[in-house]
Amino acid sequence: MYNQTIIDETKQMVRSKLLNEGSGHDWYHIERVWKTALNLAEKEKANRFIVELAALLHDLIDDKIVSNKNEAVKEVLYWLEGAGVSSSDSEKILEIIENISFKGGNNKRLHTIEAQVVQDADRLDAIGAIGIARCFAYAGSKGTPIFDPEVSVRETMTEEEYRKGKSSAVHHFYEKLFKLKDLMNTKAAREVAEERHKFMEDYLTQFFNEWEGQ
Ligand code: ADP
Ligand code: NI
Repeated sequence: MYNQTIIDETKQMVRSKLLNEGSGHDWYHIERVWKTALNLAEKEKANRFIVELAALLHDLIDDKIVSNKNEAVKEVLYWLEGAGVSSSDSEKILEIIENISFKGGNNKRLHTIEAQVVQDADRLDAIGAIGIARCFAYAGSKGTPIFDPEVSVRETMTEEEYRKGKSSAVHHFYEKLFKLKDLMNTKAAREVAEERHKFMEDYLTQFFNEWEGQ
């Protein structure tokens, strides 16, 4: 059953945990994913309560943020129980957040519309104007250059090759960002992704023109 107080309290809890997070998973990423997920949930007729909570909690068990994933899962369950979420809803929420990472979702098609919507919302935040900003911010935080013309831009390069440093922010567009459009689960997200994808293509056209001094 929908319960606004649980949503509000969860929002406050996640906000206080992630407000100063520096790896691209800060509170404002969560807030955007939550808003986008809500929007997609309406269009796709998904269960709004499950979608909202899963979106708010989706990064709290990510091993890029927490050192002990099992502990983090326990904490999320403890939170949901304490907030008064039924155990069947808690299980659904946990299943979503455990399955939506890029790698996990890459291998496995998600079966519930709620999981699909939250994954789509998370992926939409990695593309378009915001996605470009996150990409360059991430590269900056790792000391990776904006572009390296010595490394060819090949879509066939593996994520591992890029992570080994044969990379630049612009290479990440080919490694991941341009692939996301075709990985959207829902029609509503695909429509948004098309537009954001086009924006990134136009952005790189301009980028390479400027790179050549034009
Ligand atoms: P997710 O949000 O799916 O967990 P990541 O943690 O991999 O994604 O990335 C967080 C943000 O940083 C995303 O916007 C992503 O595109 C960007 N990012 C991840 N890896 C790189 C990279 N090697 N170079 C530039 N940006 C990256
Ligand atoms: Ni996320």
